[in-house]
Parts: sequence; C-alpha cells; structure tokens
Amino acid sequence: MSLTAPGAAETGPGTCPHMMDPPLLADPFGGYGRLREQAPVVRGRFVDGTPVWFVTRYEDVRRVLRDPRFVNTPSHVPGQQGADPRTSMMDLLNVPHQLRVYLLGSILDSDPPDHPRLRRLVTRAFAARRILDLRPDIERIAEELLAGLPERAEPDGAVDLLEHFAYPLSIRVICELVGIPAADLDSWREWGGDLVSMRPERLEQSFPVMIRYCHELIGERRAALREDLLSALIRAQDDDGSRLSDTEMVTMILTLVLAGHETSAHLIGNGTAALLTHPEQLALLRKDPALLPRTVHELMRWCGSVQVARLRYATEDLELAGVPVARGDAVQLVLVSANFDPRHYAEPDRLDILRHQEGQAENHVGFGHGIHYCLGATLARQEGEVAFGTLLEHYPELALADPEGELDRARLPGSWRLNSLRLRLTP
Ligand code: HEM
Repeated sequence: MSLTAPGAAETGPGTCPHMMDPPLLADPFGGYGRLREQAPVVRGRFVDGTPVWFVTRYEDVRRVLRDPRFVNTPSHVPGQQGADPRTSMMDLLNVPHQLRVYLLGSILDSDPPDHPRLRRLVTRAFAARRILDLRPDIERIAEELLAGLPERAEPDGAVDLLEHFAYPLSIRVICELVGIPAADLDSWREWGGDLVSMRPERLEQSFPVMIRYCHELIGERRAALREDLLSALIRAQDDDGSRLSDTEMVTMILTLVLAGHETSAHLIGNGTAALLTHPEQLALLRKDPALLPRTVHELMRWCGSVQVARLRYATEDLELAGVPVARGDAVQLVLVSANFDPRHYAEPDRLDILRHQEGQAENHVGFGHGIHYCLGATLARQEGEVAFGTLLEHYPELALADPEGELDRARLPGSWRLNSLRLRLTP
C-alpha cells in the first residue's frame, strides 16, 4: 500500500496548475514533484483563483524564505493596490468584518518591523514556559489516552487513532501550554474543525464565540497570573517597554492553538501510517527507540502535515531561478516538493529513518525556514517523539485495520492529512 493517493496529477509545463485541481489535491507529491522537475517556477492559481508563482525546488524555496525582498502582507508592497487573496478568501467564507483584524494581525501575516517585535515577545514567553519541561506532561497525557484506547474500539475491533489519540493529545498539550482550562478543550476542538471545514455557516457561528472567549480568558489571567504561556505573554515586555495589545494577544492565542493543534495531530497520523506501511523502518525503530528524534525528522520530511508556506509577495521586480517575477506578484512556496528534491536528498522517495545523522539539526522545510520558521517546532517534535514512542511500546502488534485498503486521505489544498486512521491494537 502506498501512502500517496492513487491518480497522478496531470500537472506539467504548458498547464497552469490550480491548487483546487482534483488530481493535485489527490496527489500533491506527484503533481508538485512534476512541476519541480519540469517547470520549477511556474504561473498557477491559488485556492481562490488568484494568480501565483509556484516555486517547487528546495534551494529556491529556502532562498525566498530568507529573502527580505519578499513580504507576507500584500499591502506592504510599495505602491500595491492589488487584490489580497486573504481578503478574498474571507469574503468567500463570509468572515464578519469586525473579526478580520484578528485573523490578519497574526504573526504569520506580519512583516518587519512588526514581526521581530511580536516574535521577540512570544519567544520570551515560550522560553519562560520551557518547552522541554513539558515532556513529562506530554508523556502523562499520551499514557492516559493509550490506556483508554481499547474501550474506544468499534465493534470490529478497530480504533481510529486520529480521533482517540492524535487529536486529543495535541489539543490537550497545546491548551495546557497556553493555559486554556481542560473543561474547554471540546469547544476548541470544535472551533478548529469549523475553521478547517471552510464552511461559512459554521465559521459565522464559531468566530465571535471564540474571540469573546479569548478576551474573557485574558481578563481572568490579568487578575491572577499563573505559570502558563498566556501569563508569560501578559508579563512579557519588550526592551522598549511595548507589550502585546489585547487584540494582538487574542490573535496570538488563536494562532498558537489553531497552528499547533491540527498540524501536530496530523504529523502523528501521517507518521504512524508511514511506519506501519514500511515494516522494515518500523522494525529498526522498535529495535532502537533512541532513533526516535531522527525518525521524527524523517517523517516531517516525508509526510509533514503542511504542504505549502503562506503566500509571499515580491516588493520589487526580481528574478527567481531565471524567471522574471514582478513587484506585487504572489509566490506559493511548495514545501512538500522541496522536501523531495533529488538535488538535495539522495533517493528522496525512500522513507529512511537513518537519513538524518544523530544530533544533526533537521534540514527539511516542513517547519518552514527563515524569520517565520515554526515557533512550535520543538513542541511538535516532542509530541511526535512521545506519540510514536509510547504507541509502539504499548502496542507491540499494532497494525492497520485494513492493510489491503487505501488510506482514508483528505483532499485539502495546503494540508496533508488523513480523515481517519483505523488501527488494530492487538492481533
Ligand atoms: C509557522 C508547520 C506545529 C506555531 C510554521 C510554518 C510552518 C509550520 C511550515 C511556517 C509558515 C510560513 O513561513 O509561511 C508546522 C507543522 C507543525 C507545527 C508541520 C506540526 C507538525 C506548531 C505548533 C505551534 C506552531 C505546535 C504552537 C505551539 C507556529 C507559529 C508560526 C508557525 C506561531 C508562525 C511563526 C512566525 O510567523 O514567526 N509552522 N507547525 N506550530 N508555527 Fe508551526
């Protein structure tokens, strides 16, 4: 069984790839991979139809992510009046105008000089909460969930790992980090689902509730600080004395919970499916659990849950791999094709948990690169290591419930994930 869905995308030179093309949705690795080999910088279309340049080679992707001539907010392009795909996406989704400020003010959408200020403040708060100290908490939560898995089995004995382990683990970890009470986890899980569903009627209902909730939580913490990230964010003060405004704080909570919840859950889902469909790699890891950190690097490269970076915009006319890109043009950096670039990786299609040397920093772009490099990468890696480690230890005979069937793969632009992962815990 292969992890990628069947049906090759007919994407190549002469065609204008669209992120909603069904073959590209079904097989992003194949479709974007063909672009990488045949037309590495090529004009195509974003989800809403906006023209973008797809950039698919490893070195080009990293170069753009480091290049200060590219920004994340189109209005930061000098003299730019053009359409903003983020706004047209929000139009499509009917996001109420008074709520847009919360979404557009995210650290991911910010550029210098705002970005380094936000990043400094939140990095300080992360350092105060010390991510590595969370490991025992992650282990405790994972153990609890794994012990309860057999009760979650369906009549045929199969258990959905995403539903009963990966999602609850990642949402509990991120909420514990931020300081969101355990009693509210289900609401967050639901809001996250509403956001991913991209269904206007669901978003219209959940957005205002979510934002009111965040304001109230900030009010409570101001009155009584604790040892969580939210309290650290309230305390964090920049060198020039600036703090996060309440709106910025709400946006930061939303960004952290929403950026950190689904992505980590799907790394656990994708990674478990990858190991179970590559028994020789699984056997290596079972024999030597010290390989876990290297395994997580490789799974992030091979089946990371984020397909593309946020759009970048050129602030001046420039050339990208010999292709002229005009000021204001949007660039779509494709992380999943960069991570399979044969110019950078020998036999890139092969899942090889020994590929990354011990103690060596990861070199894939699954967490991005440059100034917007994932703030939660350390946490996500810890979650991955604990999830795969405890899962394999608890269930030595773990297997796919239906080894002959296709994986239940979601077809979403930009995200690489399963809808469900049905497993058999014991033979
Ligand atoms: C940024 C992926 C987990 C918070 C990013 C970027 C990627 C990414 C690709 C860069 C996007 C760009 O440059 O356009 C992932 C993956 C994860 C993961 C695959 C899990 C496997 C997390 C977690 C958190 C988090 C757990 C929160 C604790 C963020 C934030 C940014 C970011 C705040 C923006 C940083 C900035 O703009 O300076 N992530 N992420 N991520 N991630 Fe993650």
